[in-house]
Amino acid sequence: MIFLDGGRVVDPASRVDGTRTVILDGGRIREVREAPASASERQTHEVIDCRGLLVLPGLVDLHVHLREPGEEGKETIATGSRAAAAGGITTLVAMPNTRPVCDSASVARFVQARAREAGLARILPAGAITRGSLGEQLSDMAELKEAGCVCVTDDGRPVMSAGVMRRALEYAGDLELPVMVHAEDLTLSHGGCMNEGPVATRLGLPGVPAVAEVAMVERDLLLAELTGAHLHVAHVSASGTVRAIREAKARGVHVTCEATPHHFTLTDEAVAGVPASVPAFRQSDAPAAEPYDTRAKMNPPLRTESDRQAVVGGLADGVIDAIATDHAPHGPLDKDVEFVNAANGVIGLETSLALTLALVRAGELPLPRAVERLSSGPARAFGLSCGTLAPGAAADVVVVDPERAFRVDAQRMFSRSRNTPFSGWTLRGRVLRTYLEGRLVHLHEELRSAEEGR
Ligand code: DOR
Ligand code: ZN
Repeated sequence: MIFLDGGRVVDPASRVDGTRTVILDGGRIREVREAPASASERQTHEVIDCRGLLVLPGLVDLHVHLREPGEEGKETIATGSRAAAAGGITTLVAMPNTRPVCDSASVARFVQARAREAGLARILPAGAITRGSLGEQLSDMAELKEAGCVCVTDDGRPVMSAGVMRRALEYAGDLELPVMVHAEDLTLSHGGCMNEGPVATRLGLPGVPAVAEVAMVERDLLLAELTGAHLHVAHVSASGTVRAIREAKARGVHVTCEATPHHFTLTDEAVAGVPASVPAFRQSDAPAAEPYDTRAKMNPPLRTESDRQAVVGGLADGVIDAIATDHAPHGPLDKDVEFVNAANGVIGLETSLALTLALVRAGELPLPRAVERLSSGPARAFGLSCGTLAPGAAADVVVVDPERAFRVDAQRMFSRSRNTPFSGWTLRGRVLRTYLEGRLVHLHEELRSAEEGR
């Protein structure tokens, strides 16, 4: 057995927040108790001193692009799994916009087989809503579910036809599969490459108005209400979206949603080279960047400070169920080009926890809430049994030094891609150990030599 001894254990699903000892037995959690390891336990078991550290459930990320099959130069299931482990993420949902698209059992099974070979994270495939994610013919969702898909999504693109979306919700609803939507009205966003507003005007870049997202979310909420199906809104970026989902939840619509660390940390000023809005960052922690830096380009785009605050408010009050990275690796061929032509997306697996802890440090989100949004919140949204340290649960655990500072170095990440807007930033909150089903899948490099020497 492994004893994680004397850390601050935060397990929102079990309402635990205090000094405890977590006992891992094989692949399961045996016990979370107040008493530290006894002298005899110290002789017979591995006891790890976690005093001064956080001990949390392994994090659950509902939105990750792993690029395999088809774009292995950007990321593979193996490199993405390694990056997840380093970021404390033990369960992730792999987006289907690969090549080929995951719209059949064969691709879903391939992803899971590769994930098992890598063995560093629990990878759950998402299937496409429509064949090829082209927005026209529904995929065979029963086949996708049978093959292990935990939701359907055409992420990267909206389902523009309301009629197709209605049928998709009816079909997925029968199968009890959540429908994750990338909400964007292309007739409003077409041609834009950043948030529409004064910053875009100043930079001379064509804008995407927030209403391109909000209008589509409102449509999909009405269709979810009509069909009774479970709608999950991906990467909420606008205050209007938070308001729409708050109202829909209040009237009983089956809707969940997620927000990304980049949307709760940055605003569209980042495209102009101005760093974070989160008050926890000093200027020296978040250095200014060049304007037109394509690492600040993603879809949906970074919005305004009032949108950012609405997202934080949604995380705090529970309208937003989950923090998800939308980890979207791209290489220089797609990113080192003019801003308007650059690919959308930023990597996020290795910075998600530290950016969330910055919100906590800024007083914008209490720690137990933050942990909940990173673990049991997403697990509950998708009906997954992970995200808790309850006895009998899978022993997915992360040990974090909350004060340990590190400089984000895009050249030294586990991800195969380097497109992070946080390169050069000083973040606090380092993952020291990640356990997946009781197996150590990540050990911080500074602990590695000491541990190996034993
Ligand atoms: O920023 C994004 N990147 N947004 C998307 O919708 C797609 C994703 C990707 O696949 O790169
Ligand atoms: Zn995505």
